[in-house]
Amino acid sequence: MHISVFLILAFNIFLVSCHNHHNEIPQIISHGVQTLQTTRTVPQRLSSAVKNITKIPDRKLANDIFCQSCELVFNQIIEYRRGGANRDSMITYFQKLCRLFTDWGGVACDGYINIEIDTVLFIIDNKKDLTGFRVCAIAFQQKTCKDPNMKKWTVAIPPPRRHAHHQHNHHKAAPLKLLHLTDFHYDPLYQAGSNAACDLPLCCQQSNGPPSKPSNAAGFWGDYHVCDIPWYTITNFTSYLTQNHANFDLVYYTGDIISHRSWATTKDHNVESIQKIFKLFKDTFNTTPVYPILGNHEPHPTDFYSPGDVSPKISTQWVFDLMAIEWARWLPNDTSATIKTGGYYTVLVKPKFRIVALNSNVCFTSNLWLLYDDDDPYGQLKWLVEVLSEAEKKGEKVHILSHIPPGEVLCLQRWSNQFHKIVNRFAPIIVAQFNGHTHLDELRLFRDANNTKKIINVAYNAGSFTTFVRFNPNYRTYNIDTNDYRVLDYDQYTFNLTKANQDKNKSPEWFKLYSFKDAYGLKNTSYDSLADMLNRMSKNHTLMQQYFRFQGRESAPAMASGCSDNCQAKLRCAITAVEADEAIQCQQIKKKTKKSKH
Ligand SMILES: *[C@@H]1O[C@H](CO)[C@@H](O)[C@H](O)[C@H]1NC(C)=O
Ligand SMILES: *[C@@H]1O[C@H](CO)[C@@H](O)[C@H](O)[C@H]1NC(C)=O
Ligand SMILES: *[C@@H]1O[C@H](CO)[C@@H](O)[C@H](O)[C@H]1NC(C)=O
Ligand SMILES: *[C@@H]1O[C@H](CO)[C@@H](O)[C@H](O)[C@H]1NC(C)=O
Ligand SMILES: *[C@@H]1O[C@H](CO)[C@@H](O)[C@H](O)[C@H]1NC(C)=O
Ligand SMILES: *[C@@H]1O[C@H](CO)[C@@H](O)[C@H](O)[C@H]1NC(C)=O
Ligand SMILES: [Zn+2]
Ligand SMILES: [Zn+2]
Repeated sequence: MHISVFLILAFNIFLVSCHNHHNEIPQIISHGVQTLQTTRTVPQRLSSAVKNITKIPDRKLANDIFCQSCELVFNQIIEYRRGGANRDSMITYFQKLCRLFTDWGGVACDGYINIEIDTVLFIIDNKKDLTGFRVCAIAFQQKTCKDPNMKKWTVAIPPPRRHAHHQHNHHKAAPLKLLHLTDFHYDPLYQAGSNAACDLPLCCQQSNGPPSKPSNAAGFWGDYHVCDIPWYTITNFTSYLTQNHANFDLVYYTGDIISHRSWATTKDHNVESIQKIFKLFKDTFNTTPVYPILGNHEPHPTDFYSPGDVSPKISTQWVFDLMAIEWARWLPNDTSATIKTGGYYTVLVKPKFRIVALNSNVCFTSNLWLLYDDDDPYGQLKWLVEVLSEAEKKGEKVHILSHIPPGEVLCLQRWSNQFHKIVNRFAPIIVAQFNGHTHLDELRLFRDANNTKKIINVAYNAGSFTTFVRFNPNYRTYNIDTNDYRVLDYDQYTFNLTKANQDKNKSPEWFKLYSFKDAYGLKNTSYDSLADMLNRMSKNHTLMQQYFRFQGRESAPAMASGCSDNCQAKLRCAITAVEADEAIQCQQIKKKTKKSKH
């Protein structure tokens, strides 16, 4: 009784206050942020206005108010700099803004600003037509902010070829064994027993001090809190692999080597971790080729992929130059030119089997260089079309490796739209795509625009080796058909971190979590079978619950929330969302008011 009365009262007060102040919020914020340029403390009205945005229950209204506020704030920032504010004043200003608008705390805020300031100032100073609209439309795409002046760039795609059919000699040969590893996020500073529940964006490091209670002590092999992975967990795994799976034909690594300590990266430390991992791969897999791609975490600053012609102080060209050297262990030397241009390459693995390895991180909306120029960075999509056209002429089948999955909400809509169009056009020769980045075990299915019941392409996201956040580590093996290079089936392997951490003197117990065909009741992995699976998913809650459990490899904390009907609808929607806009729509699926049966 007491509780409900209290809730009703609180709710009414909240509604009244919201209705009175909604339209004023952007102005209050803009005015407050301007005042912040010169004052030392955050005006009270400002911080409560910021908090009020997150309380607005109507999603669209909340987004509109967020975007208006965002545009005003970034216009203030741009004007302040262009009005003559020097580097130090800008740093002080960003420090105040960061503390106001994020919950990262002083250490992370100051770290990020220190690392990113020169790139930010370069873009404000050199991108003459930069506006708040542009910043918000790109950096906050997921809030559906729009810039009326955004250029709708396109990549030219040739019409379908008439005689695209190639005769294949069907022979019976054992399938190729493919190992898919992704998202290690190796943390050189990981310290078992340290504080796993710190207030930084990454914990489990010595500098985080002692844990407040035993359950907050960083586990030996890893931890479900916001932590990455110690070196010995990685080497224990690669030794295990050598002893238990000696027979891989090829290995894919779909990006992200560096830890999530993004506010304190240095070029030298990144280089060290990258070299260490690739040397370990070489030692582990010996003569088996590894095909690696870049993650968004490899550069310093994290997420930034600069144009080639900016000053060394802000250039990320070193990442490409480093990879051209590191990857030369496995790749033919004719890949080095495109790696140096943009971190992408293609290799003919066997006579009719080609790998196209993309640097899709350029589309990530926290890649600040998108503000400077978002028109097909490094000419990568144009190159992709050329490579696929050639492959089509020669009757080759193609695997695409891409860190960011298609339809990721934080992949620039324009880029994801053009990528989608390219996949549609070349669907007959793209036999599989392989992703990482979300750390989730996920599928993305491309559908025929004219017949949504028909699947025309599939992207497999393996998950992650890091536990970040709340997941069990995993690796995945695939059987690949030697006639058309399609995926015949895959096995997902994991270990129970809770159990492993009970005894640091025993190896983690790796086990097969599931096999794709078995778990999803597939006769085979043909597009018809996948369409049938998608259809069954909409009716069979058990199947969706399983998809949800597998996403985090059945870790207890990832499963704790459960997956309601609404959650299931969102997950199902995301499977067929292959452009950012579609994925953003999926997130906005509303709860049905009507109670549905289980
Ligand atoms: C690449 O390697 C081949 C064979 O080893 C060699 O003939 C060629 O000169 C090399 N090309 C470049 C650009 O280094
Ligand atoms: C879909 O239909 C439109 C209009 O009939 C046609 O122009 C387009 O080529 C079709 N697309 C595909 C993928 O078949
Ligand atoms: C993982 O191991 C812990 C400890 O042995 C156990 O309580 C838990 O049920 C296991 N989780 C799963 C999903 O089996
Ligand atoms: C993994 O670590 C455990 C515990 O230290 C050890 O007993 C085991 O031999 C290691 N496994 C491998 C394959 O190195
Ligand atoms: C998949 O299974 C279906 C039904 O059994 C069969 O008609 C089809 O030929 C199979 N496709 C492949 C690619 O094996
Ligand atoms: C639903 O999916 C589960 C898991 O694959 C399966 O065991 C079950 O038979 C399915 N139920 C129906 C009614 O098809
Ligand atoms: Zn990652
Ligand atoms: Zn990533």
